[in-house]
Amino acid sequence: MTEFWEDRYAEKEQIWSGEPNSILVEVVSALTPGRALDLGCGEGGDAVWLAERGWRVTGVDISATAVGRAAAMAKDRGVPQDDITWVTADLATWQPAGSYDLVSAFYMHSPIEFPRDAVLRRAAEAVAPEGHLLIVGHAGFPPWAHAREGHEHDEHHFPGPGEQIDSLALRAGEWDTVLAERRRREVTGPEGQRADIDDVVVLMRRR
Ligand SMILES: C[S@@+](CC[C@H](N)C(=O)[O-])C[C@H]1O[C@@H](n2cnc3c(N)ncnc32)[C@H](O)[C@@H]1O
Repeated sequence: MTEFWEDRYAEKEQIWSGEPNSILVEVVSALTPGRALDLGCGEGGDAVWLAERGWRVTGVDISATAVGRAAAMAKDRGVPQDDITWVTADLATWQPAGSYDLVSAFYMHSPIEFPRDAVLRRAAEAVAPEGHLLIVGHAGFPPWAHAREGHEHDEHHFPGPGEQIDSLALRAGEWDTVLAERRRREVTGPEGQRADIDDVVVLMRRR
């Protein structure tokens, strides 16, 4: 698992844009800053943006390379060290300590074995009362996706909004659904190709 993601990050000096995900910007702009946990934080675009908006952030990723890049970007942008805690860990076994006003998980898909449902259930447990859980995933493969070595392409399952919520097995009466929908966005592929792809967006608020 670690090796797969380390190899992926080793392919390029920077994989992601460094910009926050647009859905995060939209959702968080309406929230009061507090404690945030970003699962699979990658190169830190979301975590750094949150910290710059007054959130105390914990960013977790399995790739030490990605976390190192994220920490370097935070430093370059002048984010005080205390405002972000970077954790290199496998979410399959990592347990959040304490509770968070926002837990986000963007594009937490893995072409190799990953206990996504269990990880996201633990994520939900870590949300504080009146806090939010924001899960954004792909609705399917982008048109340019092709099977890489070790990539179980055909077997990958992308849950829709309802299925994503059901899989969280949230306690009845404890949560409100704020968003559960598919959203289209324009993306640029590795060769510069343009395409519209759908995301699955789930935003839950704990009562
Ligand atoms: C598709 S990327 C998304 C990165 C970031 N959230 C974003 O939106 O730009 C998925 C990230 O999840 C991380 N990841 C995959 N499996 C993981 C695991 N078991 N534990 C922790 N992080 C994991 C990868 O290293 C990668 O950075």
